[in-house]
Amino acid sequence: MSEQNATREPVLRATGLIKRFGGLTAVNDVSLDIYPGEVVALAGDNGAGKSTLIKMISGVYRPDGGHIYLEGREITMASPLEARGLGIETIYQDLALCENLDATVNIFLGREPTKRLLGIFKQVDRGHMLAESNKVLERLDIKIPNLRRPIRQMSGGQRQAVAIARAVYWNARLVIMDEPTAALGVPEQRKVHELVKTLKAQNVPVIIISHNMQDIFAVADRIIVMRRGQKVGDVRAAEVTDDDLVSMMVGAA
Ligand SMILES: Nc1ncnc2c1ncn2[C@@H]1O[C@H](COP(=O)(O)OP(=O)(O)O)[C@@H](O)[C@H]1O
Ligand SMILES: [Mg+2]
Repeated sequence: MSEQNATREPVLRATGLIKRFGGLTAVNDVSLDIYPGEVVALAGDNGAGKSTLIKMISGVYRPDGGHIYLEGREITMASPLEARGLGIETIYQDLALCENLDATVNIFLGREPTKRLLGIFKQVDRGHMLAESNKVLERLDIKIPNLRRPIRQMSGGQRQAVAIARAVYWNARLVIMDEPTAALGVPEQRKVHELVKTLKAQNVPVIIISHNMQDIFAVADRIIVMRRGQKVGDVRAAEVTDDDLVSMMVGAA
């Protein structure tokens, strides 16, 4: 893969990212490249700076230093919505789905298609939304019995699936997941792993933050390790063990 990467352009490149909170430097001069179809795990102990790092890439925080490039062009983002507009879809633990709305509406949130009524009045085209939602869920082999149920009545795994369906439907260029399996049972964790592999198969790179070694080794091609705000490791998953990772995370190497 590394030989291949040498000739390919990264989808995402970040250089020298810095984020401070008062006197604390939460992310200290971190650079990374993410290539097409790559699954990169972001590992590190609590407080290592993982979430802060991805929040800069997803438009939540403005970096105090450094640059972010998407497909070779430098980008700056004033909000998560702007990041989504550029094709960076982030799936947080709380998922940012609207609890009271159904899966269909959540897939289209903020980008609802409209049709004209009597050629004049604009109206949200619910029929189109439902048909398109069914198509994308089918393509991902996701079974949700009743798409019209509010999201809050769905299981954790189904919610992840809806969030991933949204990313796929809108042709995300990069998907970021922050601890996606933290609240899930084992069968649902497996489904999330499958969905990550589906994104990969469609050449969409995924950055996945996880504490869970099983998650990491089930899906990651590469692992970036953070400790106290710094990047302390960038290794191929096939070349390290759980113990190696833990040593890097705690600084015992
Ligand atoms: N909004 C914030 N305000 C102040 N300190 C923060 C904020 N967010 C994170 N931190 C601090 O920055 C450091 C990194 O946090 P975080 O990025 O959440 O780590 P991780 O996701 O790896 O657990 C921690 O020391 C944390 O307490
Ligand atoms: Mg975190």
